[in-house]
Amino acid sequence: MKNFVFQNTTKIYFGQNQLNHLGEEIKLYGSRILLVYGGGSIKRIGLYDSVMKELKKNKLTVFELAGVEPNPRHTTVNKGAAICKKEQIDIILAVGGGSTIDCSKAIATARYYDGDSWDIVSGKVPVTQALPLFTVLTIAATGSEMDCGGVISNMETNEKLGLVHPLLQPKVSFLDPANTFSVSAYQTACGSADILLHIFDCFYFADPEGKMDMIDRIMEEIIKTVIKYAPIAISKPDDYEARANLMWAASWALNGFLGTGTVMAPTCHMIEHEVSAFYDITHGHGLAILAPRWMEYILDETTAPQFKNFGVNVFGVDAALSDMAGAKAAIAKFKDFLFDTLGLKSKLSDLGIDDKNFSIMAKKACSNGILSGYKKLTPVDVEAIFKMCL
Ligand code: NZQ
Ligand code: ZN
Repeated sequence: MKNFVFQNTTKIYFGQNQLNHLGEEIKLYGSRILLVYGGGSIKRIGLYDSVMKELKKNKLTVFELAGVEPNPRHTTVNKGAAICKKEQIDIILAVGGGSTIDCSKAIATARYYDGDSWDIVSGKVPVTQALPLFTVLTIAATGSEMDCGGVISNMETNEKLGLVHPLLQPKVSFLDPANTFSVSAYQTACGSADILLHIFDCFYFADPEGKMDMIDRIMEEIIKTVIKYAPIAISKPDDYEARANLMWAASWALNGFLGTGTVMAPTCHMIEHEVSAFYDITHGHGLAILAPRWMEYILDETTAPQFKNFGVNVFGVDAALSDMAGAKAAIAKFKDFLFDTLGLKSKLSDLGIDDKNFSIMAKKACSNGILSGYKKLTPVDVEAIFKMCL
């Protein structure tokens, strides 16, 4: 196991009626707010009105940026940064899912830069300052509410890149599971797949000597939580217990804790981001299609024991099976969960994607020629995985 530093400074208000603390928390940072949200779901569920009421009650001045896209664009970040500069914004309040929060993180730092925000996202210009960020989460998926990363897309260049910096960590996040009752069955399934893949990519699947047993066991419990509660949330969307478990699982899957003792190498995420960058698909769905094929592709005598552990400890696969048989049974159970229980379509071709761009996508996924992870992958390997998904 590796030495590590762990710090997560986001203050969480979890549960119902916690929004009445929004004003008192925000006032610690200033009075001019940029409220950022997506395509309108927060208005349909009455959350917009609740947030505005709280802000007005506290005599805060509110400006708005609406219409953040799923897979948020750098052009929208530019719009938000321009408002922040013109209106001397003190604080950004993101109300929505990962896309809205990620966009807000990029706005928070682009506010201090006079050029195109893509210069910051692409790493050409460093993050040096950021406005304080508050979030009100509406979907359990990315963990953006409690991490310091964001992912922004440039559809002109077919790039989707991560922006990670401690200054982008939200100051305070409000997590009310009831705000996720309205999340569709499809987005609940995609969000649940995303939570699982954060755990896998946080190195549940890695050489055992490179990590901590304690973290593996906790990972398995969070995986089991998602497998138990995602189907309940899909069949009974207003089940508070199910939504609460998914919400807290999402935050803990990517708040840094599960990555302690290892070097994170988000293999499936790097591959999926290429699919989103070219085809603008829902992130969690792309992961659900890719992950089992990645498992099958890298399955050999060195990787089989941990895949078998996954099967035995999560799905109750027979421990007496050989490593290889246990691993295959685990992958089959995982596919059943994604494609039967959650009902996600299982192929990229189901999403209208063909092999036209696979070669270039594979090269882009391996930025330095190799994609690190449980098994190192070359562009040839990644292209083969894409083809298995057709
Ligand atoms: O735009 P609105 O109208 O809000 O609708 C959204 C959107 O259509 C809808 N939705 C959200 N909450 C809802 C709701 N609909 C009804 N009721 C509610 N309560 O769901 C759709 C998807 O929303 P989005 O924010 O895109 O979902 P998600 O949270 O899955 O975010 C996905 C984005 O996050 C990035 C992904 O790549 C993708 O761009 N990621 C961010 C990460 C991070 N910051 O750490 C890590 C992840 O691996 C991921 O890459
Ligand atoms: Zn993800």
